[in-house]
Amino acid sequence: MNNPYLDTIEQALFGCLPQGKHREQKLLDAMRYSLEAGGKRVRPMLTVAFCALCGGSVEAALPFACAVEMVHTYSLIHDDLPCMDDDDLRRGKPSNHKVFGEDTALLAGDALQTLAFEVLSGDEAAALAGDSACRRACSTLAKYAGCVGMAGGQMIDLLSENTQAPLEVLQELVSKKTACLIRAACELGCLAANADAAKLKAAAVYGEGIGMAFQIQDDILDCTSTDEELGKPVGSDAENQKSTFVSLLGIEKCRALVDSYTNQALSALDAFDGDTSMLKSYALALAQRKN
Ligand code: IPE
Ligand code: IPE
Ligand code: MG
Ligand code: MG
Ligand code: MG
Repeated sequence: MNNPYLDTIEQALFGCLPQGKHREQKLLDAMRYSLEAGGKRVRPMLTVAFCALCGGSVEAALPFACAVEMVHTYSLIHDDLPCMDDDDLRRGKPSNHKVFGEDTALLAGDALQTLAFEVLSGDEAAALAGDSACRRACSTLAKYAGCVGMAGGQMIDLLSENTQAPLEVLQELVSKKTACLIRAACELGCLAANADAAKLKAAAVYGEGIGMAFQIQDDILDCTSTDEELGKPVGSDAENQKSTFVSLLGIEKCRALVDSYTNQALSALDAFDGDTSMLKSYALALAQRKN
């Protein structure tokens, strides 16, 4: 998957962490460990791409992009904890709690989340995108990451273990736990460019579509890939008796659903007058992804 902004995003991301030596260095090391472990950087790439599509600069999008990636990284650290999915491998490396311990992993997740909002509401972001865009970005990211967004979706995911959730529950589960943050990434790009309401709405529809497709593909790969290719343990969903689209519908129907959600996302791009070719090919590449 081509991500032309990868180096720029990673440089900005790593620069967000406090520098120098601190008494609580172990916490900062744990935060850095997961941020630097890699990952596809899907969400920050979407933020920068939507900002560019709406006529904004890459620089203005970067604080927003970093904030979304920090919230995402926090969600992964907590998702792997023994009290949640209990997974020991993440981004091809031992999970945060395997290296630093559960207590530090918990704090690293907490502190990544608050650092995200420190960056979003900071002077640098305000100077680049404006106070109003920053306020709206804070509110959007908080809503989509919170109790009726990603955290809420994670709760539904846990409540649906050891049962088979019906389709409408699964749709809500996946929309909240995964599509919400991807949708936030797209909307934050538009906000960084001070785009109008119609463009924000279209970005939300695109984000929701690729977000749903993204999680269904994740569930397929959990059954069909290998630990090496995926960088995380396959078979985790079955082991935890998770309710997934795959457990309800089987792999073939899920592949068709990935295509149909991706097509919904693609049609939303018609609302933009700029060059949408990169976001089109990115959505198609995500639907075919192998890790
Ligand atoms: C993993 O997200 C969690 C899901 C929502 C499925 P990614 O697949 O984007 O993880 P990284 O960032 O590339 O590690
Ligand atoms: C988790 O979904 C999505 C998050 C909000 C972190 P999964 O539990 O399927 O994600 P992976 O497979 O561990 O990355
Ligand atoms: Mg999980
Ligand atoms: Mg998991
Ligand atoms: Mg998974």
